[in-house]
Amino acid sequence: MNILILGSGGREHTFAWKITQSPLCKSLYVAPGNSGTAQIATNVDISVTDFEAIKSLVLEKRIDMVVVGPEDPLVQGIHDCFLNDEALKHIAVIGPEKAAAELEGSKEFAKEFMYRHNIPTAAYKSFNALNVEEGYAFLETLSPPYVLKADGLAAGKGVLILNDLQEAKTELKNMLVDAKFGDASSKVVIEEFLDGIELSCFVLTDGKNYKILPTAKDYKRIGEGDTGLNTGGMGAVSPVSFATPEFLNKIEERIVKPTISGLQKDNLPYNGFVFIGLIKVGDDPKVIEYNVRMGDPETEVVLPRLKNDLVEIFQAIANQTLDNIDINIDERTATTVMLVSGGYPEAYEKGKEISGVETITNSIPFHAGAKLENGKIVTSGGRVMAITSFGNDYEEALKKSYQNIEKLHFDKMYYRKDIGFDL
Ligand code: AMP
Ligand code: GLY
Repeated sequence: MNILILGSGGREHTFAWKITQSPLCKSLYVAPGNSGTAQIATNVDISVTDFEAIKSLVLEKRIDMVVVGPEDPLVQGIHDCFLNDEALKHIAVIGPEKAAAELEGSKEFAKEFMYRHNIPTAAYKSFNALNVEEGYAFLETLSPPYVLKADGLAAGKGVLILNDLQEAKTELKNMLVDAKFGDASSKVVIEEFLDGIELSCFVLTDGKNYKILPTAKDYKRIGEGDTGLNTGGMGAVSPVSFATPEFLNKIEERIVKPTISGLQKDNLPYNGFVFIGLIKVGDDPKVIEYNVRMGDPETEVVLPRLKNDLVEIFQAIANQTLDNIDINIDERTATTVMLVSGGYPEAYEKGKEISGVETITNSIPFHAGAKLENGKIVTSGGRVMAITSFGNDYEEALKKSYQNIEKLHFDKMYYRKDIGFDL
C-alpha cells in the first residue's frame, strides 16, 4: 500500500516509525513531515489543510490510505472531502468525518454529547456575547477556581482556570465580547472545577467496534512540579500506575461504551482514534475533553507499546472489521521526555543545530519541531524532539531517556527533569 501521513510533529514521526515496520506498507509519504520522517519516508511540503494540494498528491502517488495526525484538517472536514470526491472516495481515511470531529471542534457540542449519553463530566453552562450578563450571574453561583473554555479550537490555549471571581468575569468578557481567541471564543463554556489527577485513554474505533489502547499521562506545564505555562506536552508515561484494572473497567463501562454507542445513535461516522482526557475524582473517572486524534507526546509512549501491525489495524478500521483484531501490548513501561526550544511556550528562536542524535542508544528519538537543512538537523519549532525509552518501571525507562539527553545539544535546549514525579 501507498500511505500518506498528514502532520509534522513527534506524533507523526511515531506513526511513520510504526507504519514502516509493516510489510503492508510499500511507500510512505508525510506532509509536511520533519527531519525524523525524512529519514524513513518521503516528505512532501504541503500544508495539512491544503485539501486541493493533498488531493493532487494522493492521485499522483496513488495513495491508498491517508492517516490524519492533527485535529485541524479533521475539524475542517478532510474525510468528507474525500468521500464527496469520485476520484478519492475509495481511499481509506483514518480520522472521523466533520460532524464527529466537532467533539473536539466545539466544547459545547462535546458537553451536549456527554449529557445526552450520560457520560460523567463536569457540570456546565455555555454563553455568548448576547447573554454575557447571565454568564456573570452563573459565575457568582460557583465557587473558585472558575473554569472558562473557548468553544472552538484555540491551539490548546483556550482554557482559563482562575481563582478570582472578578478576574473570571473580566476574562469572560474578553473572550465573548473582545474576541480574545477570535471566533473560537464567540461561545464560552463555564464549568465546574474538578479536583483530581489526570490521565488519557485512547480508543480505536471503526464506528461500530472499539479497541482500547494503553493509558498514558502527559506533563503539560513548562516547569518542574507542574508549574508555569501550559505547553503542548513536555513528556509522557505509559501505562499510568493509578489506572488499576478496576478503574479501567469503570472507564470502559461508564465512558468508552456510551461514547461509541452515542456516536452510533447520533449518526456521527467515526473511523479513527478517540482521545479521552480524563480526571480521577475520588475513585471515579470523569471526562475533561474529547480529542479526535492521538495525543502528542502520548503517541510517543503508546504506539511503541503496541505490538500489532498498525497498518493492519487501520485497514480493519476502514473496513469496519476491528472486531477481528486482537490488540497486543508490550508489558514494559514506556516514557518520553520532550526537548524544547528555550523560551517555549512563549517566543523562541529557531534554526539551532541539534547535535548528538546519532549517538543515542537504547532510546528512540522522535523528531518534532526539527528539520533537515544542508544535511544538518536544526530546530524549527517549540517542541523539538521526544526521547522515548522502555524499562521495567518508570525509573528504569526515564534513566535511559535522561542518559541519552546528556549526549544531545542545541543552543538554549530545555527539558523537564521530573517526568513521572507524581506517580
Ligand atoms: P482542555 O483543553 O479541555 O484539555 O483543558 C486544558 C486543561 O485544563 C486540562 O488538561 C485540565 O488540566 C484543565 N481542566 C479543564 N477542565 C477542567 C475542569 N473542569 N476542572 C479542572 N481542570 C480542568
Ligand atoms: N498532549 C495533549 C494533546 O495532544 O492534546
